Amino acid sequence: MDTNEFAVLKLFVVGVLVNAWMMRGLSATDSFNVEPTSPRLRKLCNESRLEWEMEVCGEDFKRDMAHIDPQHWCNLTHFISEYHLFTLCTETKSHIVDCYWPNPLVESYIIRIHKHFFSNCTIEQVVWVDPPDDTLTILILIPVFLTLAMIALVVWCSKRSDILA
Ligand SMILES: *[C@@H]1O[C@H](CO)[C@@H](O)[C@H](O)[C@H]1NC(C)=O
Ligand SMILES: *[C@@H]1O[C@H](CO)[C@@H](O)[C@H](O)[C@H]1NC(C)=O
Ligand SMILES: *[C@@H]1O[C@H](CO)[C@@H](O)[C@H](O)[C@H]1NC(C)=O
Repeated sequence: MDTNEFAVLKLFVVGVLVNAWMMRGLSATDSFNVEPTSPRLRKLCNESRLEWEMEVCGEDFKRDMAHIDPQHWCNLTHFISEYHLFTLCTETKSHIVDCYWPNPLVESYIIRIHKHFFSNCTIEQVVWVDPPDDTLTILILIPVFLTLAMIALVVWCSKRSDILA
């Protein structure tokens, strides 16, 4: 396993852990305000509206990234707060239109955004930030890592299926 793959794998493990942790949080809060009998009572996710809302989040993110020198586009330190706002936006909008987050539509939109901005970055470049020394930054990093892990996994899987094919 080369170092690149190893980095991806580590990311994946982080992603799985965070995901499990978030799911636990989610079900704990859900049990407070969801009818125990039927998840069908939940309003259906309006995908066309979600798509529109994702475009809005994406446009905001593009506008924010335009303020950052493109030579720093691979340096997470420079765009972490913009990226955080973007993931927060996708999450809030998903909930507004009664969709779970993350969901496949949001994921594919985020992948599109990543391809646009980070296609020339290596995973190491994006991920190796100095270890944060305060809790707030760690809290911000969690969804960022989750998203990066998701992307890394998609890329890794597509590479693997190339190898296995
Ligand atoms: C979804 O949202 C669109 C745009 O707001 C609206 O026109 C449409 O009626 C909605 N569909 C459902 C099933 O609520
Ligand atoms: C990213 O940016 C920060 C702040 O400008 C800088 O200290 C750090 O060295 C940069 N990291 C890389 C890998 O360029
Ligand atoms: C990535 O590199 C290609 C070729 O150098 C360039 O055309 C493209 O604009 C770059 N993309 C980004 C997001 O920097």
